[in-house]
Amino acid sequence: MKEFDIAVIPGDGIGVEVTAIALKVMEKVAAKYAVRLSFTEVLAGGCAIDTYGEPLPASTLETCQNSDAVLLGAVGGPKWDHLGGNQRPEKALLGLRSGLGLYANLRPVKIYDELKGASPLKDSIIEQGVDLLIVRELTGGIYFGERGRTTTDEGYASAFDSEVYNEFEIARIAKNAFEAARLRQKKVTLVDKANILESSRLWREVVAKVAKHYPDVELNYMYVDNAAMQLVKNPAQFDVIVTSNMFGDILSDEASMITGSIGMLASSSVRQDSFGMYEPIHGSAPDIAGKDLANPLAQILSAAMLFEYSLGMGEAARDIENAVESVLKQGYRTGDIWTEGTEKVGTTRMGELVLAAL
Ligand code: NAD
Ligand code: IPM
Ligand code: MN
Repeated sequence: MKEFDIAVIPGDGIGVEVTAIALKVMEKVAAKYAVRLSFTEVLAGGCAIDTYGEPLPASTLETCQNSDAVLLGAVGGPKWDHLGGNQRPEKALLGLRSGLGLYANLRPVKIYDELKGASPLKDSIIEQGVDLLIVRELTGGIYFGERGRTTTDEGYASAFDSEVYNEFEIARIAKNAFEAARLRQKKVTLVDKANILESSRLWREVVAKVAKHYPDVELNYMYVDNAAMQLVKNPAQFDVIVTSNMFGDILSDEASMITGSIGMLASSSVRQDSFGMYEPIHGSAPDIAGKDLANPLAQILSAAMLFEYSLGMGEAARDIENAVESVLKQGYRTGDIWTEGTEKVGTTRMGELVLAAL
């Protein structure tokens, strides 16, 4: 029997709730395909600060390094918001991404037919379909650049965060975008702020060079402010969006809403081998944590991505996606995607329904 080691980081808030459900889904699918999944649960984020006094204990990173894939819920919450930059729960996420070398974050944005009514966009916009992929650079840029505090000559407090990218980092993520586009609609849009930022101008130069190796893929450029607008005006124009760490973070939350809710969007953070960390794009949602209100589908769909990309089990991934779609077809919705005429269910019940549909 094939065996895989999966490191599991439930994290904080709804991260814990949605991860528990995704694990049950994974177990059921594994049994169907006769593979053994061995889950090792480890702490990162706020819960690790409470237990170990630090957001990312070395043992957590080591368990992840020794695994075939990582499933992560979400970290953070108001309880730890008073902490300084390096002690915050979110620091764990950055440490995992850089420590594991996960430089590419893939965030597919696809609208289910059943959820078209839950999208805040007009039918006339949604009708054209939404199926795009955000390829977000994940281990560089302003998230990892130098930052600090100084004082101006006049005595005012001052702070800085630097956006730094090098050719290697840009070419590497551009390749991911072009390779992905080849399997899709063959169109890459580089989203940047090249009218202002020198780093964006380097992105344009390097991405154009990489594009020469992909003559079958169309490349175009768009400023990030325009892209934010175009995403709601005409999302169907996009196939693959490639962009920096911070622009990708912001645009993916925006794009998630096109599909009805941030509770629907899964993601994978990958490098060049098959290893990856899989997580919903949403956070720990302190406003709804502990209330059985969270939508577990983003995390369930992240588990599907894990099967596909890290375990090479595409069929298992399709089973999970089909189960999700079938539950939506049956008319069940968590509160975030609820619309008139559908049945509102909680986190736990939604999980049970997906399990039953598998
Ligand atoms: P958030 O994504 O946690 O929540 C934003 C809004 O979306 C909230 O109203 C929340 O209730 C709702 N929401 C999110 N996920 C949902 C789901 N599955 N079902 C239904 N509704 C959902 O973002 P935030 O409030 O800005 O951040 C809260 C905390 O999470 C912060 O500490 C932040 O740093 C952290 N965070 C962590 C991650 C991560 O670990 N990957 C990602 C984003 C934010
Ligand atoms: C995400 C989150 C993280 C990010 C935070 C929590 C560090 O918003 O995964 O999208 O900005 O990358
Ligand atoms: Mn984010």
